[in-house]
Amino acid sequence: MSIGPHLLSVADLGPEGIAEVLEVTDSFVEVSAREIPKVPALRGRTVATVFFEDSTRTRLSFETAARRLSADVANLSVGTSSVAKGESVRDTVQTIDAMGVDALVVRHRSAGVPHQVSAWVSAAVVNAGDGAHEHPTQALLDCYTLRARRGSLKGARILVVGDVAHSRVARSNVWAFDALGAEVCLVAPPTLLPPSLQGWPVRVSHDLDAELGDADVVYLLRLQRERQVGALLPSVREYTRGFGLTRDRARRLGPDALVLHPGPMNRGVEIAAEVAEGPASVITEQVANGVAVRMAVLFLLLGAAG
Ligand code: NCD
Repeated sequence: MSIGPHLLSVADLGPEGIAEVLEVTDSFVEVSAREIPKVPALRGRTVATVFFEDSTRTRLSFETAARRLSADVANLSVGTSSVAKGESVRDTVQTIDAMGVDALVVRHRSAGVPHQVSAWVSAAVVNAGDGAHEHPTQALLDCYTLRARRGSLKGARILVVGDVAHSRVARSNVWAFDALGAEVCLVAPPTLLPPSLQGWPVRVSHDLDAELGDADVVYLLRLQRERQVGALLPSVREYTRGFGLTRDRARRLGPDALVLHPGPMNRGVEIAAEVAEGPASVITEQVANGVAVRMAVLFLLLGAAG
């Protein structure tokens, strides 16, 4: 087994680790399709979700995954404003750890917190999103979804469109897509790209219209208005005009092209409602596969230790 003891970043996994998670996910997709989607794999184990930042799907997805593996689940909600970084995060996670939980699923608005937490606790730590840094299980579920649809990501031309600068999803996904052999192009206005892309295995374009015709996959990022400091865009309408996947643009995609979005969507901003519900969209498959991928991650981290 190559994964563990924590899942903090896609880079921890490498191509083999990613392949292993995707392979184990297959069996949990099968479990999830059963009338009673539950196996006893993690009976007697406890998974705690510790979210210092709001979330709907990621937290529920981890919780559902843990329950389908028969683990007990404890959820701690911490309002972002009530907990400062540093000591109080440490106290919080060490208290939970002292109760004997086996895994901590951690989300925080600052990059690096799950990594720090892993040094403070004896439980396995899963990064459920840290600032604009990483969101490894999102990348894994996206890779799984693409692999299920296309067979492989090798040579796939993937456009990652939008607010790369503030997106932990972009960072994790770029590494994972690259590790599986895809060709990634970031498409964004210069103000929504990170100050440096040194070391990123990507091509960059500022012209979505020029890229669409050749794309196999369009991965749209949410415009993260809550993380944007200063006026990075003339207006949201202007953004949509240049970088939104509108109905007209979607018509120019190839017949087999796929459209993904990690959610939550700003309908009418980065993606038109009709496109989100259209034939190229695999957005609900992403959500469904997310549970099975998180089952695989929890199983690989906790299952073997008996
Ligand atoms: C993302 C997140 O919160 O990191 N959503 C998710 O987990 N599915 C992306 C986002 O906030 O835009």
